Amino acid sequence: MDSSNESIFSEYRNSRNASLTAISSSSDQNISDSSLMTQLPFFPTNQEDPLLSFTCEELISDKFPTTKFPFDGFINFHSLKICSSNAKQMSKYLQLAMGFKEVAYKGLENNSRLVASHVVQNGSIFLEIVNTLETIKNDNVLKFPYFKDDLLRFEKFDLRMKTYVEEFKITTEDLVFDYVNNRIENLCTNPISSIHFGRNMYNTIIKSEKYRELAKYLSELVTKTINDSEIIYNDIMECTLIQKFLKKHAEGVMDIVVNVKGLDVIFAKAVDAGAGIIRLPKVLVDKHGAVKLATITVPNTDIQHTLIENINYTGPFLPGYSDSIWKHSFDYEQQLSSLPPINLTVIDHCVENYSWNQMLLQAKVYAEMFGFHKFWSADEEDVSTGYTALRSIVMSSSNGQIKVPINEPVESKFKGQIEEFNDFYGGPGIQHIAFRTNDIIKTVKAMIQRGIEFNHASDKYYNNLELRLKKDDVVLFEDFDEVRRHNILVDYDPQTRNKKTKRCHYILQIFSQPLHDRPTLFIEIIQRHHHNGFGKGTFKGLFETIEEQQKLRGNFVEVNRVRP
Ligand SMILES: [Fe+2]
Repeated sequence: MDSSNESIFSEYRNSRNASLTAISSSSDQNISDSSLMTQLPFFPTNQEDPLLSFTCEELISDKFPTTKFPFDGFINFHSLKICSSNAKQMSKYLQLAMGFKEVAYKGLENNSRLVASHVVQNGSIFLEIVNTLETIKNDNVLKFPYFKDDLLRFEKFDLRMKTYVEEFKITTEDLVFDYVNNRIENLCTNPISSIHFGRNMYNTIIKSEKYRELAKYLSELVTKTINDSEIIYNDIMECTLIQKFLKKHAEGVMDIVVNVKGLDVIFAKAVDAGAGIIRLPKVLVDKHGAVKLATITVPNTDIQHTLIENINYTGPFLPGYSDSIWKHSFDYEQQLSSLPPINLTVIDHCVENYSWNQMLLQAKVYAEMFGFHKFWSADEEDVSTGYTALRSIVMSSSNGQIKVPINEPVESKFKGQIEEFNDFYGGPGIQHIAFRTNDIIKTVKAMIQRGIEFNHASDKYYNNLELRLKKDDVVLFEDFDEVRRHNILVDYDPQTRNKKTKRCHYILQIFSQPLHDRPTLFIEIIQRHHHNGFGKGTFKGLFETIEEQQKLRGNFVEVNRVRP
């Protein structure tokens, strides 16, 4: 094991020890308070759901997350990392169709040799679209993720043991040298078979008569490469992860990135709860400042969460990224600015789909890993059309800013949308991302004009909605005909109706068709009028629209299941 490994693991050990010390020694009423930490998660081992002790009103009221829970260190969504086979085109699509602007870039032009990344922004929403620049021949060289037990073995065994290196090829010199070998071979005009570049590569190169002329250039390259070995390692890792993701899932969201405070504590807790490790906590720095960053995977999935603690970073996205380098022509900019504007605000929630009977298990995972609590739930009684159904639990950070609904299919007469997703995605993953807006009609109208395709709700749905609104004597802020014309779904809570104004708390939602040919990732646009729910009243209407799409795709079929 090389010295960089030693330093990484000793750094991890130090930070982990520091975290544990912080947990055990602090008496502050914050995330370091050991009594509060031990009270979480909210699913005890006896399977009893302690949230039953709260009323439904408490669970969904505005003040519930902040009054019932101590700050857990989770601040808000930082960004979503989307794997694409063509990040440049996807960035352009998001700019043209959804009004995002490209604000940051990483690629060949700023010395990122294996991964290119385009970061787009609309309001406070950042999406990072990544793709690979090369194909890694053997994407099983790196073992990802590794787990707490692996870390314990790092501590227990002699890190220099060869067998250990063979078993856990994490930042080995071999890996870097293999990479350099490839680079050097590619630089030479004649194939080199007689020289094996290994651990003495540098000396071999500079002593060689044949390659004297190349020596200066190569030695600089090699020295720089070895100095940058950790960067290269990270690039290889990133490239491998993207490649594997695309092979297994095709395009989709790979990483839900979150802003946190107290990263080391959160990381140690997540790893203790079984989260896989992709990146150990590390400080990244460039001219714009520093952040601390770590990446874990959600147990039983490929879903990643990168945790980011901003130290003093003020740049375009993260250390290592430049401003966007793509300069548009005046004509193009002019044309772009003539398109109807789309103003989104924040990521409202990010939905994960799972397979049969996984929902409760994964909700517990989020509770144990991050201390998230159950914010909202729905079952087949709420979410069924008679043909298909699902169950859902929304897990939330203590401040309610990060919400992750967890879905599972329910046995039903026809193949449901969750099953369809699972068939095409190849495992659990992100089904949809919800963007919030303050003017859904304007936003949806502009998106339609720019080419986004939304699901259509039925006349029956709007006739029923109109009747219910009349019966409950509730008035919307929006013009009902506009809501209907744009296929926007409405879920309102008549209990919150103000007798004077006839207004109540409600949400407006609409769902796009899948962004790709595979029926996997789609987007939701949502506007909230003091309502924190997830559209229990709109599910039936939504499901019927999705079933119509499933029919067109040939995936709305009667099923005779043999379930695990
Ligand atoms: Fe949603």
